[in-house]
Amino acid sequence: MKISMIGAGYVGLTTSTCLAQLGHEVSCHDVDEDRLVNLTKGRLPLFEPGLAGAVAAARRAGKLEFTSSLQDCVADAQAVFLAVGTPSGPGGDIDLTDIEHAARQISPYLMSGAVVVVKSTVVVGTCTRLRKIIATARRSTDFSVASNPEFLREGSALQDFMCPDRVVIGVDDGHSQAVLSDIYRPMIDDGVPMMFTGSTNAELIKYAANAFLALKIGFINDVANLCEKAGGDVSAIAAGIGLDRRIGAAFLTAGPGYGGSCFPKDTRAFAHTGRSYGAPQLLIEALIARNEDRKLMLAQRISSDRSLPRGATVTVLGVAFKANTDDVRESAALTIVPNLQKAGFKVRAHDPKAMANATAHLHGVHWCECPYQACEGAGAVVILTEWEDYRGLDLARLAQAMHGSLLFDFRNLLSPDEAAANGLRYVGIGRPVAADLARFDVADRLAATG
Ligand code: UDX
Repeated sequence: MKISMIGAGYVGLTTSTCLAQLGHEVSCHDVDEDRLVNLTKGRLPLFEPGLAGAVAAARRAGKLEFTSSLQDCVADAQAVFLAVGTPSGPGGDIDLTDIEHAARQISPYLMSGAVVVVKSTVVVGTCTRLRKIIATARRSTDFSVASNPEFLREGSALQDFMCPDRVVIGVDDGHSQAVLSDIYRPMIDDGVPMMFTGSTNAELIKYAANAFLALKIGFINDVANLCEKAGGDVSAIAAGIGLDRRIGAAFLTAGPGYGGSCFPKDTRAFAHTGRSYGAPQLLIEALIARNEDRKLMLAQRISSDRSLPRGATVTVLGVAFKANTDDVRESAALTIVPNLQKAGFKVRAHDPKAMANATAHLHGVHWCECPYQACEGAGAVVILTEWEDYRGLDLARLAQAMHGSLLFDFRNLLSPDEAAANGLRYVGIGRPVAADLARFDVADRLAATG
């Protein structure tokens, strides 16, 4: 099938490439002409494992093209996917300017019977709005609008697209259902669960899914706080509750709070939608505040450590919001680093992929190409991103490079015992230090609980 994709960002590029892999002929358009030129030369605007190779293969197979002509892109496409940005507005609402503009722009070129498929994350009611916008611009209703939200995680987007837990398709007419079934036919034949529902439900499913996952993270982070006071180990608690199939083990890793381009924005939008419909999402409102506070609390945990003199150097390992991405949007580092600087510390930092993106947001940081170099002279080292490179750090070498001995492992990547064996004072998340545990006998526990 001929498919057009409006938007060559993270979602648009991944979706285009995967649809091409499914056998469709995909034409991808973006308003950024430089981006298109770079793409035709094989240069991607972002780092996503496997994507550059997959784009090149799809182009070699003649299944994927990039074009700056909206008319060429849209004219003979049975389905036109919209994957343009939907940023956060000031009150947490979603700014629909770009997607509404895109809908207006494609209107004259749509072939009769075309299905406009909303891939961008949009608030409930957007499909209905776009339907009106296109009908007005086109003076006809010979088209459909459907919702097909994405559940792609950065770092594993190709795998998430090709082998998803489910595909959610929001359609309000039989024609759209038939076209989208044809698009996903190879996956349907492979047994991937498809959920066909109305567009309103599909729009709500996207936000409810992300809000629920973010809640799991917020919950386990609060449990981690309790473990630190009560002497538990949050990893054991997560494993213990995760074995209950009703709970599930995923998204129960405690850390410095969720970040990225989706969870913070989507939880804010979900809360905003709840407020505007008079159905407040109080759990999500609390979660948003807890997640922000968490980053500040961890910055405070570092800066208030009495063994770390003001003016000392703190090394931050990991500025990406999570591993396997160069994305720093709403990463813990963007809050923690400025707070450390404000408290009078000098900051050195390293990240395997995200340093270039971080320089625009973090100032006065000494960037280093290697983690050990970054740790030179540091009074404290703070791990903020769960890169595999950091899991395998040589702690003897790290300890030797440092001036002090404090190791804040906010992703629980390292062994507290190994850290201690190398003379480092280890502070993890929701896991007491071995020495503290030994001291934490029954009498202490009884005293603590009164
Ligand atoms: C997320 C959703 O998973 C995806 O379905 C959606 O379409 C887009 O948003 P992504 O933003 O790529 O994907 O990241 P994800 O892997 O979900 O992690 C989000 C944040 O939560 C990261 O900061 C991560 O470090 C944190 N996280 C995740 C935890 O702190 N603990 C966990 O157990 C899982």
